[in-house]
Amino acid sequence: MIIAVDGPAASGKGTLAAGLAAHYRLPHLDTGLLYRAVGLAVGDAVGTPQFEARAIAAARGLDAAHLTDLAQLTGDAASTLASQVAVIAEVRVALRQYQRDFAHQPGGAVIDGRDIGTVVCPDADVKLFIEADSKARMERRARQFELKGLVVDRYALYHQIEERDARDRANPYGGFYPAPDAHLLDTTRLDIEAALRAAVAIVDGVMAKKAKQ
Ligand code: DC
Repeated sequence: MIIAVDGPAASGKGTLAAGLAAHYRLPHLDTGLLYRAVGLAVGDAVGTPQFEARAIAAARGLDAAHLTDLAQLTGDAASTLASQVAVIAEVRVALRQYQRDFAHQPGGAVIDGRDIGTVVCPDADVKLFIEADSKARMERRARQFELKGLVVDRYALYHQIEERDARDRANPYGGFYPAPDAHLLDTTRLDIEAALRAAVAIVDGVMAKKAKQ
């Protein structure tokens, strides 16, 4: 079974995807990490004429060994670099194969990102599109940072999230919208447990319907 989970930054899609993977005992890939790893690999070339070519080469050479340093990959610098390499068409094409291979392993997988249901795995068995309003997403991110002991400027964080949304939506190679057959799940007023229960109910419902067909 392939479960595609898409949604904007800090919507909770990563936490939900990890929860679904544990529930159904499936491997999980957070595809944002791929863009982050490529961004970090070419960070020193930002603003140079070599930036694109180096990003494409990094995307083509990416493997699981580049996805282990989670502290660095989930940092702010990596977020900004990721959104800069994510607008390069050849980077997206190179990363697409990696994502498809992961999704199509025997038994399937849970795979989360922005364009999984629309571009990477249009054939996924179940597609979820996770939404939450910007304020709720800001609050969740703020609490994550605070748990790491960081001081948070909520006003700045809110604007950062809105800016990232705008950049992601403007990505000409995006596909950052719900697939026509995606199930929308708004988690604005749900805690993690309630959101996971709702997601499991959707997946079970879709699979039960498929089994009858
Ligand atoms: O989900 P995230 O914040 O880790 O994503 C980091 C960046 O990578 C974000 O700017 C969008 C981009 N991305 C993408 O273009 N396609 C994906 N499938 C996943 C992430």
